[in-house]
Amino acid sequence: MDKLKKILFTLVFVSFLSSPLFAQTGGGGGDFETIIKAVIAIFAALTALVLWLVFAVAEKEELEDENAVSPLQGFWNLINKRTPIEDENKILLEHDFDGIRELDNKIPPWFNAILWGTVVFAIVYMVNYHIIGSGNVQEEEYAEEMRAAKMQRELLSESGALVSAETVTALTDPADLERGKKIFLKNCAACHGQNGEGLVGPNFTDEYWIHGGGIKNVFHTISEGVPAKGMISWKSQLSPGEIQTVGSYVLSLRGTSPPNQKGPEGKKWDSSEEDVGGGSSMADKGIGPIKNVEIGAIDLQLAKTGEEVFVAKCSACHKIEKRFVGPALKDVTKKQSPEWIMNMILNPAQMIKENATAKKLLAEYLTQMANQNLTQDEARSVLEYLRTQTSDKK
Ligand code: HEC
Ligand code: HEC
Repeated sequence: MDKLKKILFTLVFVSFLSSPLFAQTGGGGGDFETIIKAVIAIFAALTALVLWLVFAVAEKEELEDENAVSPLQGFWNLINKRTPIEDENKILLEHDFDGIRELDNKIPPWFNAILWGTVVFAIVYMVNYHIIGSGNVQEEEYAEEMRAAKMQRELLSESGALVSAETVTALTDPADLERGKKIFLKNCAACHGQNGEGLVGPNFTDEYWIHGGGIKNVFHTISEGVPAKGMISWKSQLSPGEIQTVGSYVLSLRGTSPPNQKGPEGKKWDSSEEDVGGGSSMADKGIGPIKNVEIGAIDLQLAKTGEEVFVAKCSACHKIEKRFVGPALKDVTKKQSPEWIMNMILNPAQMIKENATAKKLLAEYLTQMANQNLTQDEARSVLEYLRTQTSDKK
């Protein structure tokens, strides 16, 4: 049996030495699967050899030995080889700690096999990933996933699913407007008239708008509705893309003069008023400790302090340029009043519960803006920093 052990050990050792070779031939082309297959083949070959040896040994023992064992039993004995209990007194070591003595039994061969197996695997793995470098599989997987995500995003944005009140643009393509007209006739004409001349609802043909006449405003009005006044919210029935389409159609009616046109409602639309937030108002000061903020020329020193606070306390959720956990904060000072912004920073919990604009944001971002326990001075400095982060002043 001792001889068998030596043979086994040699085999494992040889395969361990030759594995880089296998990895190289297998992995030269950069084919990860080939390497795995090669490794599996080595192990299968080894196992076969071991089995064959066990058979041979068992047979031999059968010839020499009276109490022969079956090949399976032989294999079992081989991988569990240890000193029998009767002989344990022979391997008891001399030292004695308060009656506890050390038994110097062998490590079971199955354990050693696993150990060597992992060593072989580690070598193959290291060579494959780090030496011949055919296995930058993680990076490739990442790139692949990113490509897939990008494609999906493109598909989504083509379908209009990503359009929001903040990003919407008016469509002008006649085909789009034609689709918009269909949606309009089906859903809106009952209240706004076949040609948008106005009926229960206001007309879409003049310069006067109750809720603003830019595409962003119109998108927002259609999407959220004005339930108190009988204009329902359409976002559960129309996709963002459809809302964009019908909104664009509605805007294309401006300047037409269909018969029975309803009189003007609301105020004359000035396109410079189009607000990015889809309905938020600079008059809204929010709810919280801040009632009035004096702002003058930008104080760069203060803005610098604010930037530090922002990086430490806010950047986990906010980026300036793009949406993250929370909204992109570029231009936020143009769409929210300074008081509102400071109250949002100092008192977010109540703001998202009670302030309409903040509630709307919560509905969109589905995460609660965290209270970072800033002092009023810190919040003021952040406000100053945000004032520097606009598309014109930068
Ligand atoms: C049940 C009647 C009804 C239907 C159906 C309806 N609306 Fe309205 N809509 C109204 C009323 C009433 C108002 C005025 C709300 C107000 O006074 O604040 C309104 C206002 C609007 C406004 C804002 C106008 C302004 O002056 O600011 C837009 C835009 C609008 N609707 C678009 C649509 C579109 C698009 C559809 C179809 C998808 C639609 N509406 C379907 C009743 C309706
Ligand atoms: C846990 C993430 C988180 C942290 C931290 C956080 N915010 Fe927010 N913030 C949000 C979310 C999400 C919203 C949108 C409203 C909501 O869902 O509660 C928001 C909204 C805002 C708004 C309104 C934006 C708009 O478009 O009108 C401002 C301003 C703002 N945060 C500033 C800050 C500042 C300044 C800090 C650091 C002191 C900060 N936030 C820290 C998540 C966060």
